Amino acid sequence: MQVPERVTICEVGTRDGFQIEPDFIPTEQKIEVVNALSEAGVPRIEVTSFVHPKVVPQLRDAEAVMAAIRRRPGTRYAALVPNDKGASRAVDAGVDAIHTVLSASESHNLANVNMTIAESIDKLRAVAQIARRAGVPMQCGVSTSFGCPFEGDVPLDRLEDIVARLVDLGARGIGLADTTGMANPRQVATVLERLTPRFPGIEWTLHTHDTRAMAIPNILAALEYGVTNLDASIGGLGGCPFAPGASGNVCTEDLVHCLHAMGIATGIDLDRLVAVSRRVEQIIGRALPGQIIKAGPSTRRYPVPDTVAGRLPRG
Ligand code: COA
Ligand code: ZN
Repeated sequence: MQVPERVTICEVGTRDGFQIEPDFIPTEQKIEVVNALSEAGVPRIEVTSFVHPKVVPQLRDAEAVMAAIRRRPGTRYAALVPNDKGASRAVDAGVDAIHTVLSASESHNLANVNMTIAESIDKLRAVAQIARRAGVPMQCGVSTSFGCPFEGDVPLDRLEDIVARLVDLGARGIGLADTTGMANPRQVATVLERLTPRFPGIEWTLHTHDTRAMAIPNILAALEYGVTNLDASIGGLGGCPFAPGASGNVCTEDLVHCLHAMGIATGIDLDRLVAVSRRVEQIIGRALPGQIIKAGPSTRRYPVPDTVAGRLPRG
């Protein structure tokens, strides 16, 4: 199996996850989680989003969170923005990178950001200028890249056209997002086979949701096609408030465990990450879908039962 030696994980739980929690998570607890993720060695964190506070009230404290987190050298702190207003707020808050959002399907884009795709691209041109002036990289995420909960299939020609526009306006990276877990590994391979050779020098990120238990299979397909940047959410938090049926992202600790078991480095301390996940469960008051938090790593060993111990062949 052809896989990279190292991948870069971007933790998105404090954005993609906290944005849909029914209760507002107190600002201090958001800061505590970001700091704990940093201390676990997570190289990239999408801390929050600078969107309309009435549309996503759970993240209305974006400025306060950005201002108070402890920045670990070696971690890149980004935020999600939909438009120029969000980009200015993010730059003023001192983000290290801007992650933009638009969808590959018109209906999801309208539901999510109240704009047509063409209107979004116009706004993202202004975002690109703000990012350039501030000297921060811009990574453009494309929601519903692998299918839309309203429209179904998203034609690959349309996805390619959107990516071309984003690259034209200055995207350094492109994030292909499977917003409601509709992708399958063969489709991921087909999409990457088409797009990656056409846009050399672009850093590709796969953003997965485990809605149908296909996140890790999809990631494995992407690794074989050279993708080395993956989004994931602590505990498997996550979901889009404007996409019916959306559920959590691939669980960060489960993904890190899988990668480490395959000999792929992440720079992340798995034990610490599991501790963060336990703390997030306490904060939100319910169990999360992650498996490793329950099963322990595959290196875990149990004592041999007494009934078996005396019967083991020697040597
Ligand atoms: N942050 C704060 N306020 C913003 C804003 C931003 N990023 N963008 C726009 N606004 C304000 C404007 O200043 C304006 O304020 P005013 O009425 O006081 O003048 C008001 O919102 C309306 O501006 P408009 O450009 O018409 O925005 P809209 O109402 O069409 O909303 C978005 C568009 C993109 C701001 C909104 O749909 C949004 O925040 N969506 C985010 C969805 C999201 O986070 N989804 C999950 C992640 S994928
Ligand atoms: Zn998402």
